[in-house]
Amino acid sequence: MEVIVRKDTKSAVRLTAQLMGDALRENPKMVFGLATGRTMEAVYAELARMCKEEALDFSLASSFNLDEYIGMAPENENSYRYYMNHHLFDHINIDKRNTNLPYGLAEDVEAEGERYEAAIEAAGGIDLQLLGIGCDGHIGFNEPLSSFSSRTRAKALTPETYAQNSPLFQRPEDMPLRAFTMGVGTVLDARRIVMLVTGAEKAAIVAKAIEGPLTSMVTGSAIQLHPNVVVILDEEAAANLTMRKYYDWVFMHEPEWESYRNL
Ligand code: F6R
Repeated sequence: MEVIVRKDTKSAVRLTAQLMGDALRENPKMVFGLATGRTMEAVYAELARMCKEEALDFSLASSFNLDEYIGMAPENENSYRYYMNHHLFDHINIDKRNTNLPYGLAEDVEAEGERYEAAIEAAGGIDLQLLGIGCDGHIGFNEPLSSFSSRTRAKALTPETYAQNSPLFQRPEDMPLRAFTMGVGTVLDARRIVMLVTGAEKAAIVAKAIEGPLTSMVTGSAIQLHPNVVVILDEEAAANLTMRKYYDWVFMHEPEWESYRNL
């Protein structure tokens, strides 16, 4: 795992988008794993800008989102399909037929999980998985105690997640209590993981995920098992890290990061 701390949210976001853009330039047929949430809005705005101003070409790319609320129609403005169209897909030249989310209205919940897993496999697997982290340590909607080998399935959300996300609904009581989510095992199958975490409210949980013990109580800690992970933080989110000097040292000296230092 590599940990990169940037001076502010803006440069953390730019670095994240830059890594995604460079990966896409290298492999135009990238299969992205995508996340939603407040943190990612700025990343998607930056990718949209890069598409428009720097001719970043998504025409051959495809995507799989981590999660979707159960019982929510794609047209509902609180659905993650709506979020993705609104923040990203409507602003880049991706073929929407190649963008995938679990179907919130699926009648057979178990079959929907299996269908989604099969679709990821048929696409050749996920090349780059973008992750945020929830205040309870979740990745995707893998709430505490989710198995590290879990696959896409329905998950009951925690009261913490309800408190984190329900203010985003016009009527907070409309937030579903369950969601489809890729499993921790699904996430770990991605060839590369890029996690972005910003803001003081995430400092304690992200330190547990990066430097704490592996535990399904903090499903974000599972990324420690992955051989190709970069975690990008702003100063506020990095406040509780103990190995900070080492992270900065690596970023300053490893040739891989040379072109990213001035972002
Ligand atoms: C949503 C997802 C979640 C979010 C997490 C942080 O697709 O994957 O794990 O990344 O809940 O959300 P924000 O960015 O709103 O703090």
